[in-house]
Amino acid sequence: MRRIAVLGSTGSIGRQALDVVRAHPDRFEVAALSASSNTGLLRSQIREFRPEYAALEDGAPEDLGETGAELLSGAGSSERLAELRVDTVLNGIVGFAGLATTVSALRSGNTVALANKESLVVAGEWVMGLAGEGRLVPVDSEHSAIFQCLLGRRGEEVSKLLLTASGGPFFDLSAEELRHAAPEDALKHPTWQMGRKVTIDSASMMNKGLEVIEAHHLFGVPYEDIKVVVHRQSVVHGGVTLADGSVILHAAAPDMRLPISYGLLYPERVDAGVGPVGFDGVTWTFAEPRDEVFRSLPLAVEAGRSGGAYPVALNAANEVAVEAFLDRRIQFPELATVTEEVLGRVPQFGVLESLEAVRSADRWAREEALAVVGRHEVHRGLVR
Ligand SMILES: NC(=O)c1ccc[n+]([C@@H]2O[C@H](COP(=O)([O-])OP(=O)(O)OC[C@H]3O[C@@H](n4cnc5c(N)ncnc54)[C@H](OP(=O)(O)O)[C@@H]3O)[C@@H](O)[C@H]2O)c1
Repeated sequence: MRRIAVLGSTGSIGRQALDVVRAHPDRFEVAALSASSNTGLLRSQIREFRPEYAALEDGAPEDLGETGAELLSGAGSSERLAELRVDTVLNGIVGFAGLATTVSALRSGNTVALANKESLVVAGEWVMGLAGEGRLVPVDSEHSAIFQCLLGRRGEEVSKLLLTASGGPFFDLSAEELRHAAPEDALKHPTWQMGRKVTIDSASMMNKGLEVIEAHHLFGVPYEDIKVVVHRQSVVHGGVTLADGSVILHAAAPDMRLPISYGLLYPERVDAGVGPVGFDGVTWTFAEPRDEVFRSLPLAVEAGRSGGAYPVALNAANEVAVEAFLDRRIQFPELATVTEEVLGRVPQFGVLESLEAVRSADRWAREEALAVVGRHEVHRGLVR
């Protein structure tokens, strides 16, 4: 029986984690659940899974009514739940907000099943230092794949990591066509059903850029040894090239319940209700990413290489730009432009090894990105 905390339980990752729990009630005890503001869904999850604690980051606790769970509310409440003594904290919170929860869980000695890639993007070295050996299990499908390919291998056997990208809904559009891409088009991902932010990041290839930074920290591999390929079928999730040139690939049906259940139960496996990969008459294709059109990927890799405040600024500017695109304030190609402009102005920040230090770089970049978004709107005559 694993005692788990599912934080961000009302999101895409959180809901699928609870599907896994529902399918294997004998394997899990849910100690805690948390959401930002979705009181309706959180209330029904509490009724079904009977956690001891629940947290509502940004909502009216009275809307939850009497649930039987001890309720924490307000900013920082998910972070506090991450301190509970559990076997695994699943961090399914979206964006920079997830960092504090990862740090709090690791500092409390908990193992983290990490979906919140932003934690490693903005504070990779620090977070890996807190995690030590074996207390961070990736849930991102590509990183879970690589993690599984690396099991039992010695460092000197490994020469490169392979990360696949679906290419999203726009993979073959021209730069001109991308100017007319609307939020509703970008939200139609061909293979994955995910939250809005990661779906837009997938369409722009920023998601893959964030994942390259995540892989660099998780597996301690230099940027030049991490290869991204576009694989439209989303069946091969990642791989490892060995010193003799052979490659170990990981394939699985594109369903997040697999990496989530593996992250929650590692090193054990259960049937996540997904079914095996089919081999009859299937075609797998691999292509180079189009960096000249989807500029967010090379921008992210460059920010990762620069380190320090650069990946923090990249992530913050991207979060602001994604919101602005969803609000139709900027066009799709401006997702990369806003980020690039902010990266071009990053001042000196000291060592980013405290939440306050990372937060101050994040705040700076958000303000800068909002100003850039405003200038783009003025430039296009959207506002006077
Ligand atoms: N979805 C996928 O298939 C997928 C795959 C790989 C990796 N990931 C990564 O997993 C993370 C979660 O993605 P998602 O798609 O599940 O996102 P999502 O559907 O938007 O869900 C986000 C969850 O976080 C909660 N939340 C939002 N802001 C918060 C805050 N400030 N403090 C505490 N909780 C907060 C939300 O609560 P409310 O519902 O109340 O707003 C919700 O429960 C992201 O880092 C993403 O990149 C996702």
